[in-house]
Amino acid sequence: MVKLAPSILAADFSRLGEEVSACERAGAHRIHIDVMDNHFVPNLSMGPEVVSACRRHTGLPLEVHLMVERPDSIIPAFIEAGCGTVTVHLEAGAQPHRSVALIHQLGARAGMAINPGTATSLLRPLLPEVELALVMSVDPGFGGQRLLPQSLPRLREVAEMISQLNPGCELEVDGGVDCDNVSSCVAAGATVVVAGTSVFAAPKGTAAGVGCLLERISQGAGAQPSCP
Ligand code: DX5
Ligand code: ZN
Repeated sequence: MVKLAPSILAADFSRLGEEVSACERAGAHRIHIDVMDNHFVPNLSMGPEVVSACRRHTGLPLEVHLMVERPDSIIPAFIEAGCGTVTVHLEAGAQPHRSVALIHQLGARAGMAINPGTATSLLRPLLPEVELALVMSVDPGFGGQRLLPQSLPRLREVAEMISQLNPGCELEVDGGVDCDNVSSCVAAGATVVVAGTSVFAAPKGTAAGVGCLLERISQGAGAQPSCP
């Protein structure tokens, strides 16, 4: 079953608890938390305290996406705050295997993310070790960007590698996913869909945003436009 992970980067932070609860009630499967350090990406977002705040408002699994340099020093704090999955970037440092080992040692699932400009083949040595591969479909740093069309063949490439090397590994797509393109992402092999703007800035509200994406996911690749 394909999972939906709303990214709270696009949520109304003044009502974060309500926003997260609304996602859960509407059927989302996990919550995606984007952490930015103004070094790896040109933006600054949130720290472990925000994870703790989300933890108090939902029983859904929390996954953190670390868009930070030298992630190892901050990984333990996110796991202590309640993240069950920690994703680091392949481009964030020279020792990605060490970050994966640290995440596992602390009892969490490990994810490895790659940027749109990084060759998918560079993920190959990490795939046997991780529970999740994250294919960025925009350059990371900001919500509300358009999905880069070359992300679809890239998802297919990573899906193929996963089927050979680690069939249990999840394949997540992140960036610019909306009701119009989610079916194509799933058809290309995505098993976890991250969506920020199309959930939290949906014209009819957060629950409707989740509902539309779930409907399209359940309809599969042949989805017809019907969401508001
Ligand atoms: C981008 C983040 C994404 C993004 C998702 O740097 O990793 O999670 O904010 O938001 P939308 O769906 O608005 O692209
Ligand atoms: Zn993300």
